[in-house]
This record gives sequence, structure tokens and C-alpha cells, in this order.
Amino acid sequence: MNAVFPGSFDPITSGHMDVLTRAAKIFDHVTLTVMHNARKQGRHLFTLEERMDILREATTHLPNVRVDTFGGLLVDYMARQEPGSVILRGLRAVSDYEYELQIAHLNRQIGDAETVFIMAATRWSFVSSSMVREIASYGGDVSEMVPRASAAALRRKHADVYAEREAEKEEQKQAQQREQPGR
Ligand code: PNS
Repeated sequence: MNAVFPGSFDPITSGHMDVLTRAAKIFDHVTLTVMHNARKQGRHLFTLEERMDILREATTHLPNVRVDTFGGLLVDYMARQEPGSVILRGLRAVSDYEYELQIAHLNRQIGDAETVFIMAATRWSFVSSSMVREIASYGGDVSEMVPRASAAALRRKHADVYAEREAEKEEQKQAQQREQPGR
């Protein structure tokens, strides 16, 4: 049995990686498909190509995972590209469930597509791509919340902010050393 894990992945987080890694042990093949979310129109940080590059880099160690993209309805993708596969989605908390339940029912109604859920480990329950983007936009440390490929891409995207924050930290350190030379 194969699975399709669709999402915006802007960028992929450790929560996504947790769900994907566990799914890769359950299913023969998992396709990570970058799709368009109408609710997030025009609000992407990374281009489609950048998101796909990050996904490829983050999944090189998972031989049964491939990366793809599709611009239309998920059920059309399932029927045309992945007949017989199930849709895989991750759940972090009860708050995800309401939205996911609606979409799973709709996808079954309009395309007879089955959805399987994997619960993300509780340590990732507070991690979302949008929060990660926000923290990174201020030069904050997101290295625990995303795979290395995402962290590197976020640093490149906000290189000036990170450089400024690191310079400030270095300045603070030097000021402290001047005030307390023995420490
Ligand atoms: O990571 P996201 O943004 O929560 O993923 C949502 C996504 C992209 C899977 C969903 O918006 C989607 O399936 N988009 C494709 C268009 C579609 O089929 N829409 C109908 C179901 S909402």
C-alpha cells in the first residue's frame, strides 16, 4: 500500500518529518506532494521549487519517499498519479481534527479517496510552518523545530536578519566581558 502526504510544506517541519518517517515504515512508498492551499494564497515564504528542493534534501535518507507537486484538486492527483494510494495527513492536536475531518469527508465524497491519519509526537504539537516562519523572520533559533534543510533555507532567506542578530549578541558578549573582565 502506498500513501500520498500532501501539504504546503512552507517549509517542512520536524512534526511533518515525524509523521513522514513513521509512515515510511508502514507504507511501501510515500509521495510527498507539494500542493496549493487556497487559504494560504500569496502567503508563501518559499517558492514551489524551493519547497521541493528542501523536501528532497530532508528526505534523502528515506529511500521509499519521493517528492512531487500538483496544481489541482488532490482527488484528481490521487486518481491520475496515485490510483490505489491513500491520503496521509498528520494530526498535532484536537484543533487540527475539525479541519482535517471536513477535508477527509469531502475528498471521499468528491473523489472516493481514503485518508489515513498519523498523530504527530506530542513534542511537535506546538510546531507549525507558520510559527517557524515567524520566528525565523526575526532571526530566532528554529533548529529544533525543523529539519536541517529547512533551517538552512530559512537562514539563507533571512540572512541579513540572522547576521544582525548575531552581531548584536557578539556586541553584548563583548560589553559583558569589558564590564566583568575575569568572567
Ligand atoms: O499543509 P496544508 O496547507 O495544511 O495542506 C493543505 C492541502 C494543500 C493538502 C489542501 O489545501 C489541498 O488538498 N489542496 C489541494 C486542492 C484541493 O484538493 N482542495 C480540496 C480539499 S481542501
